[in-house]
Amino acid sequence: ATNELILAIESSCDETSVAVVRDGQTILSNIIATQINSHKRFGGVVPEVASRHHVEAILVAAQDALDEAQVTYDDLQAVAVTVGPGLVGALLIGISAAKAISFAHSLPLIPVNHMAGHIYAARLVHELTYPLMALLVSGGHTELVYLRAPGEFEIIGDTRDDAAGEAYDKIGRVLGVPYPAGKTIDAMAHEGKDTFDFPRAMLQEDNLDFSFSGLKSAFINTVHHAEQKQEALLKNDLAASFQASVIDVLVGKTIKALQQYPVKQLVVAGGVAANQGLREQLAAHLAAAGLDQVEVIFPPLRLCGDNGAMIGAAAHVALQKHEPFADLTLNADPSLSF
Ligand code: KG4
Ligand code: ZN
Repeated sequence: ATNELILAIESSCDETSVAVVRDGQTILSNIIATQINSHKRFGGVVPEVASRHHVEAILVAAQDALDEAQVTYDDLQAVAVTVGPGLVGALLIGISAAKAISFAHSLPLIPVNHMAGHIYAARLVHELTYPLMALLVSGGHTELVYLRAPGEFEIIGDTRDDAAGEAYDKIGRVLGVPYPAGKTIDAMAHEGKDTFDFPRAMLQEDNLDFSFSGLKSAFINTVHHAEQKQEALLKNDLAASFQASVIDVLVGKTIKALQQYPVKQLVVAGGVAANQGLREQLAAHLAAAGLDQVEVIFPPLRLCGDNGAMIGAAAHVALQKHEPFADLTLNADPSLSF
């Protein structure tokens, strides 16, 4: 270990987070100020509200992160920040703070892709070997990403419409579950049975892409139909049937990807990686498909959602690869891809 300390800032959506990470692998602190309660009553994240909360929270979070890590700005090697994808106003708060810290303390500034952060959350709990496969499932993304080497990302499968987490949040509205709905739907699914025959979109097609909007429509139609007929709504069974469809597709496409791109490890990343059903079923399905030599890595729940530590882990990969630092002209890139 070289004892490289990175202060990492994440503000792309509705969590203000600042972490101190050593050598891209050890979390010294990971302060997460969530705004979810402010957005709940709107049923989703309100960008303007998010920006205002970030402004209030960010410097406090930075100081708390240093204090908890028992370090000062003088001990740091670099400051890292999420530049996208995300909400432009929210991203700009983190970027402005990072620039100020970089300038005031003469620290190199490392720009980080939020989705690379989700993948590299795994590095905080596990040694990674390449080539590596990542199933990236969040509120905004559903992708299969192949990494030939550290920091070399190739999107080999993508969603054609909704992201998996987005589908959870949308059907959550229909079931009256508050935003973000994934965790609650997951719990309801465990109480119900897969009795509704929802579609498994694109599962039989010979590609690695996903589609969740048809499932969402089928779900909504079923609920409305049931309401019209005054049938008792079997919410837990609806949740279980929805989740069974999502998991079948995620698992099926991941197996296809692993057959086409042999790897030793599979990282499951992003907010939907917190899903208990997916965690329970993925390994068994890989084994049944003869892929049990693939090591499946699920980051712990607290590292699946947005957090600064994952940004620090990804930033350290960029540091090791001697990727160019950013300067004070750094801007947000709301639709940044790999
Ligand atoms: O990665 P993330 O924290 O934020 C984005 O970058 O999008 O992911 C948030 C998404 C939300 O859509 C939320 O409903 C979903 O992750 N989620 C879950 C679970 N926990 C969070 N989806 C399914 N099952 C869960 N247990
Ligand atoms: Zn995220």
